[in-house]
Amino acid sequence: MRISLKYAVLSVALLPFFFMVYQWGKCDLNHVDTLSRDGEAGLEHALKDPHGAGYESFHPRAAQSYNHVKEMEMPPLKYREIECVINGDYSVKGRREGKEIYLPFSFIQKYFEVYGSVEQYDGYDRFEFQHSYSQVFPPGDKYTPSGVFMSFEYYNVEDRNRVKCISGVEGVPVSTQWDNSGHFYPIQIAQYGLSHYSKYLGPNKRRIKVLENGNDMNSLGNWMLTERRSQLAFQMDNTNMENTVVEFATQEQIKNPGISLSVDEGKLFTLSMDIKFMNKGSITVLLRTGEGNIFRIHYIQSNEMMRLEGRDLYYGIGKDIQGKWIHFSRMILIDFQKGLTLKHSKSKSRKIQKTTKIAAICLRGRGLLDNMTLSNNAHLDFFFDAANYLVRNQDYRGGWPIMVKRSLIPDVMELDPGWYSAMGQGQAISLLVRAYLVSKDKKYLDAAGKALEIFELPSDKGGVVSKYAFTYDWFEEYPTKPSSFVLNGFIYSLIGLYDLKEVASGPTRELAEKLYNSGSRTLKAMLLMFDNGSGTFYDLRHITAGLPPNRARWDYHTVHINQLLLLSQIDSDPLFSTTAQRWQEYMKGHRSPHN
Ligand SMILES: *[C@@H]1O[C@H](CO)[C@@H](O)[C@H](O)[C@H]1NC(C)=O
Ligand SMILES: *[C@@H]1O[C@H](CO)[C@@H](O)[C@H](O)[C@H]1NC(C)=O
Repeated sequence: MRISLKYAVLSVALLPFFFMVYQWGKCDLNHVDTLSRDGEAGLEHALKDPHGAGYESFHPRAAQSYNHVKEMEMPPLKYREIECVINGDYSVKGRREGKEIYLPFSFIQKYFEVYGSVEQYDGYDRFEFQHSYSQVFPPGDKYTPSGVFMSFEYYNVEDRNRVKCISGVEGVPVSTQWDNSGHFYPIQIAQYGLSHYSKYLGPNKRRIKVLENGNDMNSLGNWMLTERRSQLAFQMDNTNMENTVVEFATQEQIKNPGISLSVDEGKLFTLSMDIKFMNKGSITVLLRTGEGNIFRIHYIQSNEMMRLEGRDLYYGIGKDIQGKWIHFSRMILIDFQKGLTLKHSKSKSRKIQKTTKIAAICLRGRGLLDNMTLSNNAHLDFFFDAANYLVRNQDYRGGWPIMVKRSLIPDVMELDPGWYSAMGQGQAISLLVRAYLVSKDKKYLDAAGKALEIFELPSDKGGVVSKYAFTYDWFEEYPTKPSSFVLNGFIYSLIGLYDLKEVASGPTRELAEKLYNSGSRTLKAMLLMFDNGSGTFYDLRHITAGLPPNRARWDYHTVHINQLLLLSQIDSDPLFSTTAQRWQEYMKGHRSPHN
């Protein structure tokens, strides 16, 4: 979930905190006076060799600084090394310049958990300091259940390291979180669908190159029929008399070349087609890497996930697909990258993938083909892949059980395989509601309605609802015993309930509304328990398990803020907007007042 960024310009708003850290950075507290420009140059200097290794005792002043013009009129300043004793525990080497003392930023960074780097633009170096590494993407004007989901248009779920691959059989990501062999994690699947949906609504136009649409006689000439007995012809589409499709017939074994289409595509990496196999045919994509190596991705009729043999990568797309039309849609580079990680490191795989082009596409076996395209994305396809997976895999209780053991805190908060997550239920609902609104197909809304049942089942009876102080209903992301009260998961579940109550009717609407109202009451009573005066807590383990508080990382703190900004659009209670405001200020080093 991490979203890192580099500010293009050092924000004016950051300067006070830059000063603040600079002040903290002083050993000599007698000299807490205003920042001089020398201070900046000194910090920059310290960074160039943060550990002071290899430094002489005296240094000529750094050549570049913010006021490099004025500087030329000044005599060069010297730095001298000075030992800085930290809390009487240990020391680090600092620098002294006249009355001023500088500590290495590497030390400051670790000590205060802050971030900074030297960036070059406009021809000179700047040191850019940030209190946090995360950024809040402001939401759109008004949240609706058919609109963008929070800031998910910035998420690239398939690209995450903990996604093993996109299953060819199920069309959804396989997670390695908590279990390296891989499992279908409903939260990740819902996020995959919601991120593609949010991108689909975004401003980026879809670019499509039609390779074969079965309408143009001339296009058949583009195919290479390498085998002597292969055939290609037009045929009427039996299901749609207005439409013609391509009929192909070649040897079916993977060692045969089949029929192929040469392409030289370095931009459009999503391959889509409607295809019906009449025997055990397959689809192969030929890739050429920047180093000139040829790799082949074979999409075969099997249920296996992914296998790499030399430069041949195999993805199963289901073993029972013969005789029916399927819509095939794959992010070829993602498939390639995930396959490469079976043999190479993740960074090497990304590097190879970056320079790769699609060289050809081939088909083998006997079958029909239509609508074969390369495009820059097929967000709607992937969104429906996720929604359809959730419909197919909902259990008799309306839930999506998570089939791996989850150890939130080993031996203290653990969940055995088969647990439900209110966050999983909630995000699945948000996805299914959108699938219903786009398709008008009621099966999605029905599945969303069924997903409510788990919200009424207590966490100690296999469900997700727990009570705080015997009074407040809390929908648990991890329904542990004792309760964990994870804030972001709870709010995601509320957003799902909101989406459903807005769109459903009858008893489903009533139940969703009842659950939403009770969760909303809880949130208003408990939200500020998560505020620590300069950041937020991820959960309440310090209260329920007597453990040290679990501070939220900046990226989770950002999620908290994004969620409050969303809630402030659907609930006028000022608690949400004022808290979101304060929590945003924490990201720039502000703290709440002390006594
Ligand atoms: C190909 O796309 C067209 C237009 O969307 C559609 O009408 C047709 O049914 C598709 N062909 C197949 C075989 O699905
Ligand atoms: C509150 O959280 C922030 C961010 O994690 C952290 O830097 C700070 O030390 C915490 N403060 C307290 C009093 O726990």
